[in-house]
Amino acid sequence: MSEQLISDKQRNSTPLCENKNLQKWVEKIAALTKPSSIYWVDGSDEEYERMCAELVASGTFTKLNQDLWPGCYYARSDASDVARVEDRTFICSHSKENAGPTNNWEDPFSMRKKLKGLFDGCMKGRTMYVLPFSMGPVGSPMSQIGVELTDSLYVVVNMRIMTRIGLPVYREIEKDEKRVVPCVHSVGMPLAPGEKDVVWPCNKEKYIVHFPEAREIWSFGSGYGGNALLGKKCFALRIASTMARDEGWMAEHMLILGAESPEGEKTYVAAAFPSACGKTNFAMLIPPTGLDGWKITTVGDDIAWIRPDANGQLRAINPEAGFFGVAPGTSVKTNPNAMISLAKNSIFTNVALTPEGGVWWEGMTDEPPAECIDWQGNRWTPAIGKETGKPAAHANARFTAPAKQCPTIDPNWEHPEGVPISAFIFGGRRPNTMPLVYQAFNWSAGVYVGATMGSEMTAAAAGTIGKVRRDPMAMLPFCGYHMGDYFRHWIRMGRKLNPTPKIFHVNWFRKDANGKFIWPGYGENMRVLKWIIGRVHGKSLGRETPIGWLPRYEDMDWTGYDFSKEVFDELQTVNNENWKQEVIGHEELFIKLHDHLPPEMVYERELLICRL
Ligand code: GTP
Ligand code: SPV
Ligand code: MN
Repeated sequence: MSEQLISDKQRNSTPLCENKNLQKWVEKIAALTKPSSIYWVDGSDEEYERMCAELVASGTFTKLNQDLWPGCYYARSDASDVARVEDRTFICSHSKENAGPTNNWEDPFSMRKKLKGLFDGCMKGRTMYVLPFSMGPVGSPMSQIGVELTDSLYVVVNMRIMTRIGLPVYREIEKDEKRVVPCVHSVGMPLAPGEKDVVWPCNKEKYIVHFPEAREIWSFGSGYGGNALLGKKCFALRIASTMARDEGWMAEHMLILGAESPEGEKTYVAAAFPSACGKTNFAMLIPPTGLDGWKITTVGDDIAWIRPDANGQLRAINPEAGFFGVAPGTSVKTNPNAMISLAKNSIFTNVALTPEGGVWWEGMTDEPPAECIDWQGNRWTPAIGKETGKPAAHANARFTAPAKQCPTIDPNWEHPEGVPISAFIFGGRRPNTMPLVYQAFNWSAGVYVGATMGSEMTAAAAGTIGKVRRDPMAMLPFCGYHMGDYFRHWIRMGRKLNPTPKIFHVNWFRKDANGKFIWPGYGENMRVLKWIIGRVHGKSLGRETPIGWLPRYEDMDWTGYDFSKEVFDELQTVNNENWKQEVIGHEELFIKLHDHLPPEMVYERELLICRL
């Protein structure tokens, strides 16, 4: 049946791009992977409709009730393919030294041999899609181009939301001005003649491989998120971070937001929080009662490419065009802008399906639906959930939504030169020790704050949840080279900047003795942001502590909110004994990186110890 939706003629369409190198590479990969047909993606609306219809016909997609969820589709992954696989992610630089101790490394020669075996015939019985994409607005001097060859139609339709794809990108490739990053992706499940496909093909064996010098990506065995949508973490962070190091810019795991004061002064900040630690929510913040004169606009929610302009002013673009956001916890109360963004033309993966043909996830409404189908396809009721302890939606269930549907999208979000960045904010999930907010004394102290960031692990990656790990600049799983060299790059960048952005650390996740979050978070985070922006413009006061500048209760704007001074002081406690432990925690990572650490990190550590 699916065969009728995309005809054989369309499947074997002639190349849509004149570039001979691209054509030759497509032929070469097809000769290796042996797909039954090749399809050059044009990126049109009509094509998208057709592809979604095919995914419905094959059972991968369920079309949601179009009255409730116009243009929306629902997918359930294989139960073993639900998050990024960090232990299967490889940085295959020429030397092991260049990948550093925080990355998995294999010799590129032996890895290429392994990949050749894995990819040999891996697309048999499937179509190979040629998917050209631009990270950043097509034609912007800060944008980069990739082509993903994939045997997953689910990946194609998700990439269409997450990046700019299709004909305009072929035209860019034909100009031959920018190096194209080749990305090869396979779910790793060839089909024998006549064999029926499963709804979520994947392979137990997974390889997410990067060749930083060749700027190449090979991904095998997974169809989920950052493992498979190769423009995102693989290209825009791991490969781009190495390009950025070589070319003097920065590729960061950061949201970008604009804040306009009641007086009309606009300030842009970029913030790095680890996976599932609040970037999407912060990027779409709605100021609370009392601070409603402020206006927050969204430039990006996950990745920032940042470059100093001719005057040394940092400017940032969001290389993506969509949000691949965490569904659980997203609601009209916590993030109404996300709820509007995902209300139409979106794809939902691993959430629950309601009997009306809608979607639901934990936290979406106070009352769960009386009945639904959970992310594994089983009947779920609140009683069943209580009994089994299983949520209806997977903790890493996600929505894929077009960024342009966000009500607060910044008017300059596609500006080819980017937006000016005035401050960097680091933050993680820390149940203790870390105050709500503080400012680092200067750039080098701020780089130390980012470099020593810790956070509890979340469901965004396969592995232990809840353990605090060091996640420098939220880049631990995403830096394509030696982490010590990455800190050096940050230090070096600081010397080129004018003005030098101020650096802050926030923690929305401090808990009380009963394990409850002390800070209400979400919209109330505006109060913290207001203090930060005040610091940038020399307007907010603070007190000096061994770790940096902290706002006192009276330095914060509490208009419209009756938050007690006692609780605030608890949130802002800097306990010297806890901090001495914290500094010992920094050691763990620094010992691993010692031979590449910039001297500034060692000085900053000594200074911090002295102050404590
Ligand atoms: P990635 O897409 O994985 O990079 O995640 P992210 O950093 O964009 O995280 P996101 O904003 O999606 O938030 C992840 C989870 O944290 C969601 O369940 C949110 O509801 C929750 N969260 C976000 N902000 C806050 C906050 O201020 N306070 C509390 N308590 N929870 C928050
Ligand atoms: C993250 O894990 O930081 C994400 C989701 O943004 S994924 O695209 O799967 O990496
Ligand atoms: Mn992320």
